[in-house]
Amino acid sequence: MPLHDLVVIGAGPGGYTAAIRAAQLGLNVACVEQESALGGTCLRIGCIPSKALLESSERFHEAKEKFSTYGVVLPEVKLDLATMLKRKDQVVTTLTKGVEGLFKKNKITRYFGHARINGIGRVTVQSQKETVELEAKHILIATGSKSSLLPGVQLDGDRIGTSTEALSYPEVPKHLVVIGAGYIGLELGSVWRRLGAKVTVLEFLNRILPGMDDEIATDAKKIFEKQGLEFRLGTKVTSAKVKGTECIVESEGNEPITCDRVLLAVGRVPNTDDLGLESVGIQSDAKKRITVDEHFATSAQGIYAIGDVIPGPMLAHKAEEEGVACVEHMVTGFGHVNYDAIPGVVYTQPEIGTVGKSEEQLKAEKIEYRKGIFPMMANARARTLGQTEGKIKVLVDAKTDRILGVHIIAAHAGDLINEAAMAIAFGASSEDLARTCHAHPTLGEALREAALAVDNRTINL
Ligand code: NAI
Repeated sequence: MPLHDLVVIGAGPGGYTAAIRAAQLGLNVACVEQESALGGTCLRIGCIPSKALLESSERFHEAKEKFSTYGVVLPEVKLDLATMLKRKDQVVTTLTKGVEGLFKKNKITRYFGHARINGIGRVTVQSQKETVELEAKHILIATGSKSSLLPGVQLDGDRIGTSTEALSYPEVPKHLVVIGAGYIGLELGSVWRRLGAKVTVLEFLNRILPGMDDEIATDAKKIFEKQGLEFRLGTKVTSAKVKGTECIVESEGNEPITCDRVLLAVGRVPNTDDLGLESVGIQSDAKKRITVDEHFATSAQGIYAIGDVIPGPMLAHKAEEEGVACVEHMVTGFGHVNYDAIPGVVYTQPEIGTVGKSEEQLKAEKIEYRKGIFPMMANARARTLGQTEGKIKVLVDAKTDRILGVHIIAAHAGDLINEAAMAIAFGASSEDLARTCHAHPTLGEALREAALAVDNRTINL
């Protein structure tokens, strides 16, 4: 029976990163993955293909609608959806093969099949070809999550589907109904809107992007409406069914909507079924998330869990942080994740980047704060880019000036937010940010100006 120091179950960003870090630290590591491609949801059917399509669709939209304003005149712009989808698949293949290469380089043994825990230190890997028993000093569960279902919404794997189907529609829908105005609904809704679909987003709550700073989410809604996304808030979807080539979507108190495709994006649930958790008495909560201590140890000896299967935001980079901290603690006795400094990004246009606490959280926690806001229209680089929508908001502790939250809606917010995350990680004040020289002309200057705005001393406004 093969013996490993560590068997990681799942090769998504959490699992594969943990496996690599553990190998660097000298452990004999194996990773079990049931899909033929490595990289998990993020690389295969999540972050990466969606970003490839967001990029392509934005290029198409710009070429069609905006290039002439930059003085670039094209003959008729046409959509070649097949090439767009092929490019997305190529990006995915390059990256998933890249993980294979990293496994080889780090001498990580890859097992193909479904892993089940079969007692302390024991994992059974089952594939169509064979069943392999593994022995492990440590086991790390990193099996990620899958789309939540909604009672009454009958997924048919084609017209009514999840993000997986929405990454590969063979033609641009005439009318796409998106259920859920969260990260996935807004990103994939934007893709198909830019390519010409009518897009209606049905959201249960009276706002979009729950959890996001209110002011930023309100701005975002206005901007997305200008782009043609139609929102129906306070709408509880009760059923969606295919009828011929059409779909009928029903919601409480409203007329049914007829459309040709439906995207269900109402959150995700942890993949904890059929893992043999009961064989070792691993405890989970009501949302099926595995209960762990501050070092990611479950209630079973030598078994750990990270990423989407434990509480916290379901984000690839959160899983990576946890994977690294978990195996570092396993080997060295030290390992830590700073949950106050985990950024989140919605890759719409403009992007939304957020880190730390929202104003609503600060109010709820009765923390006295001050804020500085700087609009992108006063930033020179944004002007030259022709992307002046949005703003940056810096929230600081009223007494100490320590930065507690930064919320950005702006072009390239996904890149800008990392500087804010570092500021929070280093315990910086708005004064620190304001006194750091920022290159000119850059979008990052708007972050500095927002820090200056905390004390009403912006220069360019
Ligand atoms: P989400 O939790 O972001 O949003 C789901 C939305 O559906 C919520 O606004 C919720 O109120 C709404 N909803 C729930 N039930 C409903 C109903 N019956 N009718 C209408 N609306 C309803 O979930 P989403 O967008 O599916 O994303 C899942 C996870 O994937 C998130 O945790 C997100 O963090 C992650 N993700 C991250 C991305 C990124 O980092 N850029 C991109 C895509 C996903």
